[in-house]
Amino acid sequence: MTANETSHTTHDAEQDARNLDIKIYVNGGIVHRDDAKVSVYDSGFMLGDGMWEGLRLYNGTWAFLDEHMDRFYNSCKTVSLDVGLTKAEMLDALNRTAAANGMTNDVHCRLMLTRGIKDKPFQHPSLSRSGPTLVMILEHSKPVDSLSSQGIRLATVPQVRGLPMSQDAKLNSHSKLNCIIACLQAEAAGADEALMLDPHGFVNTTNACNFFIVRRGEVWTSTGDYCMNGVTRQKVIDLCRANDIPVFEKNYSLYEAYGANEAFLTGTFGAQTPVASIDGKPIGDGSHPITRKLRALYKELIEQTTGA
Ligand SMILES: Cc1ncc(COP(=O)(O)O)c(C=O)c1O
Repeated sequence: MTANETSHTTHDAEQDARNLDIKIYVNGGIVHRDDAKVSVYDSGFMLGDGMWEGLRLYNGTWAFLDEHMDRFYNSCKTVSLDVGLTKAEMLDALNRTAAANGMTNDVHCRLMLTRGIKDKPFQHPSLSRSGPTLVMILEHSKPVDSLSSQGIRLATVPQVRGLPMSQDAKLNSHSKLNCIIACLQAEAAGADEALMLDPHGFVNTTNACNFFIVRRGEVWTSTGDYCMNGVTRQKVIDLCRANDIPVFEKNYSLYEAYGANEAFLTGTFGAQTPVASIDGKPIGDGSHPITRKLRALYKELIEQTTGA
């Protein structure tokens, strides 16, 4: 892979015409995508007041469901958003939606819960009185091969991840404006995705994925204080520990990132995606041996846990 390949987003999937005819879960009903609608008074549309989760289905099993559900229910509790379903009921709804679509493999789900329809177009949460809105969009989804063969081009951006007392980065909220501003800045710089720093200037995360570097056989990622507590991030850390690959959650600067032998992103969609360049500087020699090894170990873990 080189630093000058074609542009990507980190969520580029192969075109699949079946997605034009999918059925979507909306508040207990499962309807054709053309009929899947929410109100303009919905708290999610109006204010970004909601939480979401991205999940993948392998061989009819939702990968790392407990971890995703723990994060989702914890996020909802943090903002006093009553999910209204138990975790078992949520799984049943996910499975019913998959079955209605005949889906078992290469499926990505965006599960979204908002504070529901508001009485009036104003901010106060108490105006959302009719119960939450729950939507599940399941799409046929295979990451394009070029994501792993060419890698992603990152640009560092002025937009930073904030302190937890402004908007905790661990909240997977509908409002992604902090990330979207970063992404726009990266796009303006000619890159695919933004590399975001923390308030102290240490390398933190990208706008949509967690970020790792590899230096002299060691895998480094941020302390985790200012980024999404990614399920894939944690799996990679656990896989390193289980396979005697030294791994550190620590502060480091762009100096160490530019000089890394490898860099990669993690997320439920793309698993581990190599980074080709940061600010136009190629990362390593492009061979990414440890990233490839971790990709293989992660694939094995998915196979073990889902039977895929
Ligand atoms: C900002 C951000 N970082 C990282 C991730 C990756 O998290 P996960 O590995 O749980 O998909 C996500 C996914 O929701 C995200 O929104």
